[in-house]
Amino acid sequence: MTTVVKADRIVAAEVLVTSPGRNYVTLKITTAEGLTGWGDATLNGRELAVAAYLRDHVCPLLIGRDPARIEDTWQYLYRGVYWRRGPVTMTSVGAVDLALWDIKGKSAGQPVYQLLGGAVRDRILSYTHATGWDVPALLDSIDAARERGFQAIRAQSGVPGLDTVYGVSRAGAAYEPAGRGTAPTEEVWDTDAYLRHAPVALAAAREHVGPEVALLHDAHHRLNPNQAARLGKALEPLDLFWLEDVTPAENQEVLRHVRRHTTVPLAIGEVFTTIWEFQQLITEQLIDFVRAAVTHAGGISHLRRIAALAEVWQIRLGPHGPSDVSPVALAASVHVGLATPNFAIQEYMGYPDPAHEVFQSFPGLAGLLGARILSELGEAGPLPGSRFFQPVWSQFRRPDGMDRPILHDFRRQFIIQYFFYFIVGQRRLQPLQFQFARKK
Ligand code: CO
Repeated sequence: MTTVVKADRIVAAEVLVTSPGRNYVTLKITTAEGLTGWGDATLNGRELAVAAYLRDHVCPLLIGRDPARIEDTWQYLYRGVYWRRGPVTMTSVGAVDLALWDIKGKSAGQPVYQLLGGAVRDRILSYTHATGWDVPALLDSIDAARERGFQAIRAQSGVPGLDTVYGVSRAGAAYEPAGRGTAPTEEVWDTDAYLRHAPVALAAAREHVGPEVALLHDAHHRLNPNQAARLGKALEPLDLFWLEDVTPAENQEVLRHVRRHTTVPLAIGEVFTTIWEFQQLITEQLIDFVRAAVTHAGGISHLRRIAALAEVWQIRLGPHGPSDVSPVALAASVHVGLATPNFAIQEYMGYPDPAHEVFQSFPGLAGLLGARILSELGEAGPLPGSRFFQPVWSQFRRPDGMDRPILHDFRRQFIIQYFFYFIVGQRRLQPLQFQFARKK
């Protein structure tokens, strides 16, 4: 005797854009059985591109599909397009994946982490951000985080001589990395001043908190390989939990140089969206922590796959969790953390106050127990005039006005490479590259 279970099917997929303090894009999937699943589709600074991708290209494909077939739908959306990968595509796939896991949890009456194999830990270690323009303000901010119970803290400070530093507020102002406007703010940046100051500020932080508190620091993709190696060496005595995003890491080979010169634990990958972008970082053990976010890296299904690859090389997961990773995605990330053996730590920055009105049932990290939490998301339409909310992320100039330092460093590296090839007689460079090198 065979039993045929009648499959549920998706009858609606809607995209909600809200702006409670910053932009959030949320996907809502409804099934014929009346179940709803929620997925986060927020890609900071490019929110509306994902909203359009979902509305125009993905939602129509979901109607009529069996919501239980999560992996099948993932493969269909990923392989079913000529243009695979990329943050807009992967965030869209991630949103669908989260919503389908939410539906699966609700139809099973189980929290999602149970469906992933059950909990391998009872608590999730999380870190929050402490920032201060100068050292005393940073130490105050660290104290405030510890009073809230955090045992792991990311410490960032201002840099003498600069007017603004990404992710660090001036005295009294609330720390929120996104700003409202029609274009991102362009900041002036001085790597030399940063390299002089950061070890001093972090040493003060370590001295202040003692040896037990986990300290983290983010270099925000700003250094070249040699600067990264120098900073890593300088910070070794401070026993950091991790040093994050030392280089832009699009060129992953350069991290071999950093690894050869320092044992500081490296965390990279919040801007990477697939297992293929992590392949070299993981298989060459160029990092200690994978920073992928559950939304941007293709959802629960794909983040679990990245974690499994990382586990082979004893690399652990520390998912991205700033205020633009919505409460829906943060909940999903916590489910992954509960069920994944090589999960290490979850970033928790917190949210602007109005976000708690849109995402009404988000109770904080301690209360996240199941798909029930993902289901109780409040609904709110877009707020008037709220759609141009841009981050200042990584937009900076040197004091002499030159654009991003990494371009400069790349050109210099290229010239060295060119002469190397020339001297050893391997003239394989194309004419275009020759002109590019000569121009400098
Ligand atoms: Co970061």
